[in-house]
Amino acid sequence: MFMSVSRVARAVMPVVALAVTAPLAAQEAGEDRHAIASPDGRLAVEFWSADGLPRYRVTYDGEDVISASALGLRFEVAGNLDRDLEIAGESRDSHQSTWELPWGERRIVHDVHNELLVSYRHESGDGRGFDIRVRVFDEGLGFRYEVPVPDGEHRAIVDEVTSFAMPQYATAWWTQAADYNRYEYITRTTPLIEVETAHTPFTARLPGDGVHVAIHEAALVDYSGMRLDQQREGVLTAELAPGPDGVAVHKDGSFITPWRTIQVAEEAVGLINSDLILNLNEPNVLGDVSWVEPGKYVGIWWGMHIRTMTWGSGPIHGATTENAIEYIDFAAENGFDGVLVEGWNLGWDGDWFNNGAIFSFTRPYPDFDIEAVAGHARDRGVRLIGHHETSGHLTNYESQMEAAFDLYERLGVTQVKTGYVADAGDLIRIDENGEERREWHYGQYAVNHHIRVLEAAAERHISINTHEPVKDTGLRRTYPNWISREGARGQEFNAWGVPPNPPEHIAMLAFTRMLGGPMDFTPGIFNLTFNGPDSPNRVQTTLAKQLALYVVIYSPIQMAADLPGHYAMNPEAFRFIRDVPTDWEHSIALQGEVGDFVVTARQERGGADWYLGAVTDEEARVLDVPLDFLEAGRSYRAEIYRDGEDAHWHDNPYPVTVETRAVTSGDVLHLALAAGGGVAVRFVAGEAE
Ligand code: NOJ
Ligand code: CA
Repeated sequence: MFMSVSRVARAVMPVVALAVTAPLAAQEAGEDRHAIASPDGRLAVEFWSADGLPRYRVTYDGEDVISASALGLRFEVAGNLDRDLEIAGESRDSHQSTWELPWGERRIVHDVHNELLVSYRHESGDGRGFDIRVRVFDEGLGFRYEVPVPDGEHRAIVDEVTSFAMPQYATAWWTQAADYNRYEYITRTTPLIEVETAHTPFTARLPGDGVHVAIHEAALVDYSGMRLDQQREGVLTAELAPGPDGVAVHKDGSFITPWRTIQVAEEAVGLINSDLILNLNEPNVLGDVSWVEPGKYVGIWWGMHIRTMTWGSGPIHGATTENAIEYIDFAAENGFDGVLVEGWNLGWDGDWFNNGAIFSFTRPYPDFDIEAVAGHARDRGVRLIGHHETSGHLTNYESQMEAAFDLYERLGVTQVKTGYVADAGDLIRIDENGEERREWHYGQYAVNHHIRVLEAAAERHISINTHEPVKDTGLRRTYPNWISREGARGQEFNAWGVPPNPPEHIAMLAFTRMLGGPMDFTPGIFNLTFNGPDSPNRVQTTLAKQLALYVVIYSPIQMAADLPGHYAMNPEAFRFIRDVPTDWEHSIALQGEVGDFVVTARQERGGADWYLGAVTDEEARVLDVPLDFLEAGRSYRAEIYRDGEDAHWHDNPYPVTVETRAVTSGDVLHLALAAGGGVAVRFVAGEAE
């Protein structure tokens, strides 16, 4: 997959990278500091030992982004690695390569970074310690622990003391962690000092120059997910989800941790326009993945959320043969690739939330003829999309998943949506002794469970879209069949959430959750007021904004989530959903502020057309967007879907004005977004000059 790789030894490392470490040299006399800068020299990090305490610090243009902060690991039994450590040596490298994403926001990814390895060893000389490997890119850095442990020895990590000290009055955008609803919380805006325990990606804007920072992790494999806990004022400290024995991570022999990542950008959109997380993941291990197919889908789904259908059996069972055939025909007629059917398998009756042990993943309800449905789909050139709701019973699922994927493979199903509906910390596994154990959705066991599922699915050329997942840390690079996931409040919260997603929700997600990777948000609700306009449960956007979501929210698979009948009633707006692709050659976040608005442009992969999506929060907004991303010298027909006259998410969400204009890269598009509104544009490429 690598197109070109060049490893450059220290001797030829760009001089600028060494020169800009100078501001960091404002160090206490005698301290042995080891610094490295980004290729453009603006971002720098240094490591040292402060009287035995391992420390690091990050600066941008010479100003602190992360001030002196702790490093270290603590274990269940003796041998902690958080004090009495000195630096025993270092090595350096730099790297430049480009590589290709089989599907993604862009095709070509550039990986340009400088690397430093700093070895901390215990002062006793017993050889114990860790190496910190840091890679510094222009738009952020990642560091990980590489811990040498003699073969055959076990380590039980109870605590990672990695900290991130930031100005207390930075503005923070965050969701609460360690709470029952996993990652599904409304994003809060507070001074940093008011952050409690937060998930990552965690985004902040520093006082002063307003530099934006996002803390996350990359390549979360065989480890426990990192939450950020504010123990001291202004200091966020890694908190690893514990296993049922109180140990966060068990390791045998030498090990590495996930990368702890710090993105830094002058403008908020700089956080989005970064491939840091992907670059810190390992290359594809699945080989040929041409069977992983991006695309659009519809499904028997929203009806259950607005309660016109049920997952379980009964008079309004959604997953009937008849309903499925109707959806398949609708999909075929409108150019969709897949049809999701939820509630097809035995186990939904009764309290399915708490009955994970009784789900069958191979036996359909009697009113769902899975062979006939899959056959009809194949005949119509559409795929049935599989569904496995586990209700968080990991062991029940693992015991059946091979057979379940075999069945799907035989039926021509190439994508499966999985679900882990259970309170956080309440996933169930049955251990070797038959005892029931409870796990976090982001603990080491669940992290490894997802990899097992991906591998079993990959053997049958099946891709996985995980709901109630572990957060995305860029593993789609290594396992390109991890095609999407949830991991935030999706559209479903508009059906029954208390409260539903607020108008600023998407402008928040774009700068927080979405920094991790694709989200199966399931956009495209046209009947926004399904319970009546005065019900608290409704979609708090305009209709035009629902269209914009297909461009703003990246996912290689996008659902048209509403009931087919609602699309039939509005064919003009529906046309945008039919047209918009889900796989891209280029993507650029053009403008935006966290929680306020965002404007994104993307070029279709394998095509010349561009698409633009703009969304705002509860404020109406006028935006001037230069079209300089279009190919110079080419004319385009802009098909604009914008909020109509007097549109407003609350009082008047439906008007959409569709208009066409000829534009070139020299034009500036003047976009008027209603309160809670948005704009979607397709730029149809004319002949190149
Ligand atoms: C939660 C998922 O997010 C949703 O999409 C699905 O319909 C239900 N679980 C049932 O599996
Ligand atoms: Ca969910």
